[in-house]
Amino acid sequence: MNIKPTILITGATSGIGESLLQHYLAHDYQVIACGRNQEKLKQLATDNANVIPIAFDITDKEQIRAAANKISAIERIDILMLNAGDCRYIDNAKAFDGELFASVIATNLQSLGYLLEYFLPKVNAGGQVVFVSSSATLLPFPRAEAYGASKAGIDYLAKSLRLDLKAENIAVTLVHPGFIKTPLTDKNDFAMPFLLTSEQAANRIYQGVSARKSYLHFPKRLTLIMKLFALLPDFIWQSIALKNEKSLSNEKALKKKKELRNNKK
Ligand SMILES: NC(=O)c1ccc[n+]([C@@H]2O[C@H](COP(=O)([O-])OP(=O)(O)OC[C@H]3O[C@@H](n4cnc5c(N)ncnc54)[C@H](OP(=O)(O)O)[C@@H]3O)[C@@H](O)[C@H]2O)c1
Repeated sequence: MNIKPTILITGATSGIGESLLQHYLAHDYQVIACGRNQEKLKQLATDNANVIPIAFDITDKEQIRAAANKISAIERIDILMLNAGDCRYIDNAKAFDGELFASVIATNLQSLGYLLEYFLPKVNAGGQVVFVSSSATLLPFPRAEAYGASKAGIDYLAKSLRLDLKAENIAVTLVHPGFIKTPLTDKNDFAMPFLLTSEQAANRIYQGVSARKSYLHFPKRLTLIMKLFALLPDFIWQSIALKNEKSLSNEKALKKKKELRNNKK
């Protein structure tokens, strides 16, 4: 009989999720690793016998149902780590991309309803549910209409669910990471202050979840500044955000000009 504690991690094939997987394995957990990347999942399971890989797309209810069936022999999940997510930007607000918006909401928010439907029944009294949201919900950022809205939805979902699971003795932790170096942020073309590694993020999440904290935010030197700006009148943050956006588009225009010049040579 397996007496190791069990954690299910969505998005375990990359970035923060993969670092969480390594962290929990090092602390003697059995890890149910989820993602779409079958090669990566196979590799993770080959490298460590305590990894149970299940490949599925979190935007597909039927795939989630089938994934839950696959692990029906596992009696309980101690930690349900809802980490998988996508970040894409609305580059032209006037020509609003509704498909992009719907897709980001489906991946980051809508999926959680089905993940909870199929996996929460396995979390017993004393268990935990962890939502990896984002510090982006502390302030509005340009181009982040889709990502920010999806993560703000997660914040409400987590806080509301916490109230309803209290009587079941299931703790809910909401996580607000700042900038973490992963394939998701490698695509960003703007400055990311106080960037942490995914190992540092995983360590902070592991410590906070072990202490059954309801809210984690890091690095504090970033999130506390953001919380301060959120308390000030809107126009102060607006002028900073728009100034940054303007200098970014100037930089981009300059880069494009240089590329064109070089191509002509
Ligand atoms: N990096 C940051 O600075 C930062 C900051 C704040 C919050 N976050 C949040 O942290 C979480 C992890 O992000 P990350 O930076 O580690 O990103 P990442 O390296 O791109 O990893 C994203 C993970 O989500 C999985 N995923 C995405 N779409 C999926 C889908 N449709 N079905 C199943 N799995 C899917 C991916 O798995 P497959 O590719 O195998 O499908 C991958 O394992 C996200 O929720 C993100 O919003 C990140």
